[in-house]
Amino acid sequence: MHLPDYLEARTRDKRSYNRIHFQLDDSIEKKYTGKKYFVKTYGCQMNEHDSENICAMLEAMGFSPVDDYLDADLVLLNTCSIRENAHNKAFGMLGRLKHLKVQKKDLIIGLCGCMAQEKSVCDEILKDYKFVNFVLGTHNLYQLPEIIDKAVEEDKQQIEVFSREGDLVEGLPVIRANSCKAYVNIIYGCDKFCTYCIVPYTRGRERSRKKEDILEEVKELIKDGYKEVTLLGQNVNAYGKDLYEDYNMGDLLEDIAKLDIPRIRFMTSHPWDFTDKMIEVIGKYPNIMPSVHLPVQSGSSRILKLMGRRYTRESYLELFHKIKDTVPGVCISTDIIVGFPGEEEEDFLETMSLVEECQFDNAFTFIFSQREGTPACKLKDNTTLKEKEDRLQRLNEVVNRIFLEKNKQLEGKVLKVLVEGTSEKKDMYFGYSETNKLINFTSEKDLLCGDIVSVEITSAKTWSLDGKCV
Ligand code: 5AD
Ligand code: SF4
Repeated sequence: MHLPDYLEARTRDKRSYNRIHFQLDDSIEKKYTGKKYFVKTYGCQMNEHDSENICAMLEAMGFSPVDDYLDADLVLLNTCSIRENAHNKAFGMLGRLKHLKVQKKDLIIGLCGCMAQEKSVCDEILKDYKFVNFVLGTHNLYQLPEIIDKAVEEDKQQIEVFSREGDLVEGLPVIRANSCKAYVNIIYGCDKFCTYCIVPYTRGRERSRKKEDILEEVKELIKDGYKEVTLLGQNVNAYGKDLYEDYNMGDLLEDIAKLDIPRIRFMTSHPWDFTDKMIEVIGKYPNIMPSVHLPVQSGSSRILKLMGRRYTRESYLELFHKIKDTVPGVCISTDIIVGFPGEEEEDFLETMSLVEECQFDNAFTFIFSQREGTPACKLKDNTTLKEKEDRLQRLNEVVNRIFLEKNKQLEGKVLKVLVEGTSEKKDMYFGYSETNKLINFTSEKDLLCGDIVSVEITSAKTWSLDGKCV
């Protein structure tokens, strides 16, 4: 058994790490043929992509997928710790699984992802969730097949969570959820330690993949017919810093843009480290999509300082306008937290005025959630839940009004759309524009997933656009 420890998790040093290649033990390959699995994913794109690796490892062991967890022999929760509600959802699901296991004694239940890295979660599972067969941390996900096999063979709860990042694993098998768009990890972990955020503890130190490995993966995706790659990292701008003297995110973006892939996206960018080279490269290459996610978190410099964000309102705005001025037609989206400890009404009004100035194309808005072990958890919370909810509602009213206004400006315009499929009723296709707007549209000719077509926008809604293929 290995239990996580936050004190260890927060240490950062220049310890070297090995790059290892994933290999499935022959004795486990196809051993579980006939058994069914169900993976429930919570949280961000990183987790979604980890689940693509998880599914492939399970299928290599012989498991096959089912759509309903009630039909599964193995249920794995790939969890998220970012806010309390993600945490509560996973525990709610564990409650349902407990009941299921009363009827299905051989059901294998596992928990992995960020929550597994929290000591309090592991302690709770050891104490009150004895029916959970295994817990596996983010740093040793590649050990999933052997941990499942051990849990089954020994019929004993396995808790295998390392506090610190270990080897960087290449060659994990993958079953991609989408046949024309693919996620590609470029950097793991985060060293920014924003005071509210649990990610640096659950995902460890910043570790970049080698540029050769990334470029090779993108070339393979092109060969397999993928039309879009999204480069993933908790903070992609830090790419390369731990590996190279003079090769960073701008250089990587440029090298990928020179490959024959129609669409490149990346997320998430911290405003810190967003270099002029990056902006210049995004503006220069038409296959780097003019869409940037640039979390601001707050419009008040005083709160940004308490959040440990390393920029001020003014420097954020300077960067924002530089990107807008350099990249033609760029759309910028953001993340905002309200009710951070110490946030007064006047700080919140600064967030509101920044939102009016930036006119974001999309914004994910959250109420501050205390995460145990983070510095912000110790700060005095000065607002009631009602005040926080009130701020969130006022903020959402403004951002939603802006989304609709911006979408209305697109009516009558023709946008390039990457076709992803048909809507549930099958009477419309859907896909995303270059600026990442969801578009539902009709077409007289049959289209395939992966086609890039021109769509005239006929009507705008807050969260999507309707159109017709021209
Ligand atoms: N409370 C609320 N929101 C948070 N985020 C990260 N940590 C917290 C927290 N403790 C938000 C930030 C981040 C996004 C992924 O989640 O806005 O950018
Ligand atoms: Fe969390 Fe800040 Fe790192 Fe983003 S940059 S993952 S908000 S610590």
